[in-house]
Amino acid sequence: MSTKDLFATRTSRMKASEIRELLKLLDQPGIISFAGGIPDPALFPAEGFSAAFQSALGPESQAQALQYSVSEGYAPLREWVVDHMREIGIECGLDNILITSGSQQALDYLGKLYLSPGDTALVGWPTYLGALAAFNAYEPRFDRLSINGNRRAAEYNAAAGEGAVKFAYLSPDFANPTGETVDLRGREALLDLADELNCAVIEDGAYQALRYDGEAIPPVLALELARKGAIEACRTVYCGSFSKTLSPGLRVGWVVAAKPVISQLVLMKQAADLHSATINQMAIDQVARASFDTHIPMLRRVYGARRDAMLDALATYMPDGVEWTKPEGGMFIWVTLPKGTDGADLLARALDSVKVAFVPGQAFFPDGSGVDTIRLSFSNSDEATIREGIRRLGDVLRA
Ligand SMILES: Cc1ncc(COP(=O)(O)O)c(C=O)c1O
Repeated sequence: MSTKDLFATRTSRMKASEIRELLKLLDQPGIISFAGGIPDPALFPAEGFSAAFQSALGPESQAQALQYSVSEGYAPLREWVVDHMREIGIECGLDNILITSGSQQALDYLGKLYLSPGDTALVGWPTYLGALAAFNAYEPRFDRLSINGNRRAAEYNAAAGEGAVKFAYLSPDFANPTGETVDLRGREALLDLADELNCAVIEDGAYQALRYDGEAIPPVLALELARKGAIEACRTVYCGSFSKTLSPGLRVGWVVAAKPVISQLVLMKQAADLHSATINQMAIDQVARASFDTHIPMLRRVYGARRDAMLDALATYMPDGVEWTKPEGGMFIWVTLPKGTDGADLLARALDSVKVAFVPGQAFFPDGSGVDTIRLSFSNSDEATIREGIRRLGDVLRA
């Protein structure tokens, strides 16, 4: 018997993330990377965090900062989240909030909460790779959720008689990997579909604050609240994150949902890690209160200009037959290559010949389709580098 024979069946579906493996290669000098969907570290509110950690470790709060704490999360931060959710159209109370270690932990817990082996999870085709990884551990089937631009505006293609649909997962604002936004009609249609299927909706708001143009569209949970009157009647679970706005390294995110959902997630958190690091929550709370409202407009300006630079460069340097999305926010542009071009082959050639990196799109499809797609991130390079990288990529594609 080999070591692996002892592993549970769920591990057979766990694969090393292509993105993480790739990120390991990117330390080489001279690489222009459009691969990781990560914030620019030069934009972190580092001074604010330095002051916040010092104050958390000061005589008045050090005992609390360094001690065990409650699983629900640091109460002042949960209060900040209640106010923030109100600002984006979602009325909820403290008991509707759980602080998690990044929204990734929330996705894992939600997989654990809803999915028995063989149940169906509806996801976009493509969708966030980390969500597929989180849900995969609970051995679901994935079915394709289509929103926008089709007959019913939201539908899925489950084979009759297969596992119960437990939830639809989506990132309605500036999705990873496509950068696309679900319009108001699509969000309403999704709620209709969820009511019809009697399933939950997992709304991933990781990029929600990073809109560079166009009008904000109410979150799915806000629309459901408008229909049903109270969060306790809602089936949508909202996952938020400070990773793309303040700092991913501190690992602080949150979940907003009806109380029975939060209570069950609290039990999971107690079993998994008791609570997220208190000192990190205190620091996030202090920095969010002091500067969230000024920091976000700055991020929007900087990332918006980078998005524009990448769109301009694509228009200038891409050969005929290449298509791409025009996101209104977030960190990604999704590129469809000319027929017959393999994104993974292109990456190998681009790394080797012009030192440009990106993520081949196939990894974002539950069924391994999407061979002719790639994801480009514009968040972590300045405009001149973006232009140069896209010029080089155009050369490789033409070669
Ligand atoms: C759509 C989406 N959701 C969730 C996450 C996880 O973020 P975190 O756990 O840092 O909050 C990411 C990270 O890239 C993401 O792109």
